[in-house]
Amino acid sequence: LQTEPLKVMISGAPASGKGTQCEMIVQKFGLVHISTGDLLRAEVSAGTEIGNKAKEYMSTGRLVPDEIVTTMVTTRLSQKDVKEKGWLLDGYPRSFDQAQSLEKLKIRPDIYVVLDVLDEILINRCVGRRLDPVTGKIYHIKNFPPETEEIKARLITRPDDTEEKVKSRLQIYKQNVEAILSTYTDILKKINGNRPKEVIFKDIDSLLCQVQKEKEKTTKLG
Ligand code: AP5
Repeated sequence: LQTEPLKVMISGAPASGKGTQCEMIVQKFGLVHISTGDLLRAEVSAGTEIGNKAKEYMSTGRLVPDEIVTTMVTTRLSQKDVKEKGWLLDGYPRSFDQAQSLEKLKIRPDIYVVLDVLDEILINRCVGRRLDPVTGKIYHIKNFPPETEEIKARLITRPDDTEEKVKSRLQIYKQNVEAILSTYTDILKKINGNRPKEVIFKDIDSLLCQVQKEKEKTTKLG
């Protein structure tokens, strides 16, 4: 009997470090990273119909309508690589309705990780964030500066990373968070995200290893 691969959700306020932790999780566990923010940004830069609809919402820091995002996520989750390698969902669900859409489809993670970070730290992380459009890697002008001058020259800033927009994104997050958490109370793990990224990853790593072991045990018991 083959053990079913891991299914993980990661959540937390804007700039709490979800993308940063996902890079490390993917490297160790080989899960398929599904980030709704990344998927939407790709649609926007490709100028697709979804991208054109989403653009206005994203640039002002509001949530893109559920029906657009939910179709995008459920389509991705049904693909072969996801079924084989397992999934790491980042940035979804972001509202009660989105969480309910997954429940209706019986799509449930093994574990729901929440990164807990203080508001003032979040704002600093957002405003200093830079992205490498070539590798997709996440940098920070102070915390994680780029390795070379060449990378530095090509880094971009997200249009929704101004202090004003971060504050409104944070407010939207706070309005929705409790209703989403209530769907996952039984598998919820809160992690202190105010610490260095390697220290945070150590905690997540041991949680995921534990879940994986439990899954293997249940498979053996049949
Ligand atoms: P999305 O891209 O998901 O944005 P977000 O949730 O606001 O999260 P971020 O990507 O801003 O932050 P992160 O937690 O990944 O932090 P990161 O690792 O980069 O969504 C964008 C938009 O798309 C939304 O506003 C909405 O419009 C739309 N959207 C997306 N999903 C949707 C949905 N389901 N429904 C509707 N609309 C949706 O880290 C941030 C910075 O901090 C970086 O510079 C990093 O280097 C630094 N950093 C990270 N960890 C640490 C650490 N431990 N110590 C110091 N610095 C750190």
